[in-house]
Amino acid sequence: MESFFICGGNKLEGELSIQTSKNAVLPILAGCILCEGEIVIHKFPKYDDTLTMLKIVEELGAKTYIHDDDVVIKCDSIQKSEIPSNLASKIRSSIFSLGAILSRFKKAKVPYPGGCAIGARPIDLHIKGLEQLGAKIVDKHGFLYCDGSNMKSAVVSLDFPSVGATENIMLASIFLTGKTKIINCAKEPEIVDLANFLNSLGAKIYNAGDSVIEIEGVQSLHGGEYTPISDRIVTGTYMLATVICGGNVTLNNVCYDHIASLVHKIKNNCCKVSIKGDKLTVIANKRPKAISKIETQPYPGFPTDLQPQIMSMLSIAKGTSVIVENLFESRFKHVSMLKKLGADILVNDKTAIIKGVPMLYGANVTCCDLRGGAGLVLAGLVAKGYTTVDDIHHIDRGYYRMEKDLQALGANIERITKV
Ligand code: UD1
Repeated sequence: MESFFICGGNKLEGELSIQTSKNAVLPILAGCILCEGEIVIHKFPKYDDTLTMLKIVEELGAKTYIHDDDVVIKCDSIQKSEIPSNLASKIRSSIFSLGAILSRFKKAKVPYPGGCAIGARPIDLHIKGLEQLGAKIVDKHGFLYCDGSNMKSAVVSLDFPSVGATENIMLASIFLTGKTKIINCAKEPEIVDLANFLNSLGAKIYNAGDSVIEIEGVQSLHGGEYTPISDRIVTGTYMLATVICGGNVTLNNVCYDHIASLVHKIKNNCCKVSIKGDKLTVIANKRPKAISKIETQPYPGFPTDLQPQIMSMLSIAKGTSVIVENLFESRFKHVSMLKKLGADILVNDKTAIIKGVPMLYGANVTCCDLRGGAGLVLAGLVAKGYTTVDDIHHIDRGYYRMEKDLQALGANIERITKV
């Protein structure tokens, strides 16, 4: 088992370039299933999740190879409409391939998806959306058997602006004759990036980023090359690491708008944040102050994927803070581990009350999920003494060699293997 061994207390100083967004690349890889010819994705992030999604596309018949930071995907040989359970069970995003496979082959056999253990994570909105386009979907023995032979453009209305369902329905409607409208869709930057990617290959997707997206059907998508957006959650994680540890850090390759909800919460409260082009600088030199209330919301609200990291910051803040987690019911699993480090947190249903303590103390903790794991690393960076964070394979799903980034900023963190 791999773990991080952290000696807390160092300030962070320096400059880092932010990696490409995992959550942007995953649906873009599914989008490749729709294409003819060759796709080159630049600055491909080699996270565990993106590599698994690449394997799924390979499993469908694509030839792929990674060359430095690029991945090349030859899509003409895609010929299968089924994905195997062993790959799908690793990542939730395997479900995106459903819309894309249906679009290309008018049929699909896809297993129930896996992913982070942060609650029930149903896929009813994906299924209802595809059914509104005319797909017939039968759920049997852990697989979804889908017939798309009668799919037609339509108005699809989502009960909730689900990121994954919006992306799936977009992918499913690219080749449908006429105009499809998705109402109450998600507005996340990753949705806009997927639309930009597909439009660069010949799709006609309008208004991505608004709550109603329109898709005009086209006959085919050609090959091309694309550089996806940088990772706003990795950006936010390193911003919060700087606030927790104190220091002066500049992050390159940042889109300020994508991270504005976090900046709004921490600026003037405990740090200075400035932006020049795509460089964002955080300067923090005093103990953070509590934040009266943070509620996680769909974009542009405060992201659930930064909730554990900001909770680590609030654990050492002056005063009492409240976090309400509205997106996922099991997203407080890191709390028991933060308490092991000395945090004072009370959880009642979807609300956590965090009484800031002056100091956390090193201990042995275990990651339960990707973002919770990142939160524990941040707490370990400030805790007095030594912290070991176990089961970091969860963190590797969404941060490429996190320890290297943090070492570059002066943190004392090592990857170790425990036997
Ligand atoms: C995406 C992100 C994930 C992030 C989440 C919310 C990717 C690969 N993952 O996940 O990192 O935490 O957005 O910002 O982009 N829901 C249903 N039925 C459905 C689908 C969703 O009830 O069919 C519920 C979920 O349980 C959850 C909420 O809707 O409570 C939001 O989920 P959704 O926006 O779909 O998140 P994901 O696409 O899974």
